[in-house]
Amino acid sequence: MILFDTHAHLDDAGYNSDRDEMIQRARQAGVAHIVNVGFNLATSRESLKLAEIYDLIYAAVGIHPHDAAEAGPGFMDELEKMAAHPKVVAIGEMGLDYYRDLSPRPVQRKVFTAQMALAKKLQKPIIIHDRDAHGDLMDILRKDKLGPAGGVMHCYSGSWEMARECLAMGFYISIAGPVTFSNAVKLKDVAAKAPQDRLLIETDAPYLTPAPYRGRRNESAYVIYTAAEVARVRGMETEDLAKMCTENGRRLFRIA
Ligand code: NI
Repeated sequence: MILFDTHAHLDDAGYNSDRDEMIQRARQAGVAHIVNVGFNLATSRESLKLAEIYDLIYAAVGIHPHDAAEAGPGFMDELEKMAAHPKVVAIGEMGLDYYRDLSPRPVQRKVFTAQMALAKKLQKPIIIHDRDAHGDLMDILRKDKLGPAGGVMHCYSGSWEMARECLAMGFYISIAGPVTFSNAVKLKDVAAKAPQDRLLIETDAPYLTPAPYRGRRNESAYVIYTAAEVARVRGMETEDLAKMCTENGRRLFRIA
């Protein structure tokens, strides 16, 4: 089995007592690569540190919409400096979150579009977070356009119609643990229909724990449960699905 957890937050304090063992379990489960994703400057730096310690970990640096209001005037320069590191494979996570609205919406939009422009300049793929903001997010993407380095809709939660438009723009679609929940009808449909060369899987650990561990702390090894469910809805063997998604992730994040 070869797996790629394309989105995790393993710098989270919830792993402080057993991070090494948790990453060891991921290796044993067949996880070959993990992208550890920053959501502000501090966690972007932490992601880089993990990438320096663990060969299988790569980093993404960016400002999450929750943290947009606190980004500070120098955040673009800081991100650009960090992005020069050879293990930084993407800019993100970035986007809009109108569910929790932790930053004012105009600030979310400004910090998002600034990072899209930075990613284009640096020729890096982008990692998009979108929660209850589909309308404004798609408006921005239609106007600002995805760069040639591409991007991923992380923890995809929209309709198949929206997925089709994202795919046409050049995005990959990443499926997380909620696809394993029995009531996730819309998400299973997207997972079944997405083209085989644009599908990714992720944990978003420590969040979004898949069944059968729902409600407990998530970890990268559990990406296998998402792989198994996506394989089931596509009528594939888990191992083939895992390999396919790993190749897709390597292509997007340019990992040899
Ligand atoms: Ni995340």
